[in-house]
Amino acid sequence: MSQQSSSSPQVGIVMGSASDAQVMNQCAATLKELGIGCEMKVCSAHRTPQRAHDYATTAAARGLKVIIAAAGMSAHLAGVMASLTHLPVLGVPMEGKLAGGLDALLSTCNMPKGIPVGTMSLGVHGAVNAALFAAAILATSDKALEQRLLAYREKQTAAIPEEPPQG
Ligand code: RP5
Repeated sequence: MSQQSSSSPQVGIVMGSASDAQVMNQCAATLKELGIGCEMKVCSAHRTPQRAHDYATTAAARGLKVIIAAAGMSAHLAGVMASLTHLPVLGVPMEGKLAGGLDALLSTCNMPKGIPVGTMSLGVHGAVNAALFAAAILATSDKALEQRLLAYREKQTAAIPEEPPQG
């Protein structure tokens, strides 16, 4: 699989807390595996609102194409990002102690019409899928990336055994 990265990041990953980084590192790793440059920032809708505002309002001009926003609990980060930029925003709800993260899932996905957030599944599954979704968006205008994405899926399929383990 290609390990190449473009010099200027195409995907911005923001997260509400440094405590989200362990999960979101797997998002970055998946982007890297697909040869997509990314940057990661801690940027909270509640604790660092000015930083969140500045990040979203400068994202397009800085060359970002997709924003991935991860947050837990009362997770407003993806919605705030989406309200401040026309770029596609993918939300990743973090797992938590309240109903396993249902609070973050509902906060992220239940946006009012007009400002969409593409909401992924909870936790690491959502983190990896956000990277793959961002890749799919970028691949619509990047044939080489499209080929890498197809190869990623073929490799994934080939790695799944038909027979389950015995005993
Ligand atoms: C959210 O609150 C963060 O995204 C994190 O998932 C959660 C808990 O944050 P910490 O208390 O660990 O900083 O804003």
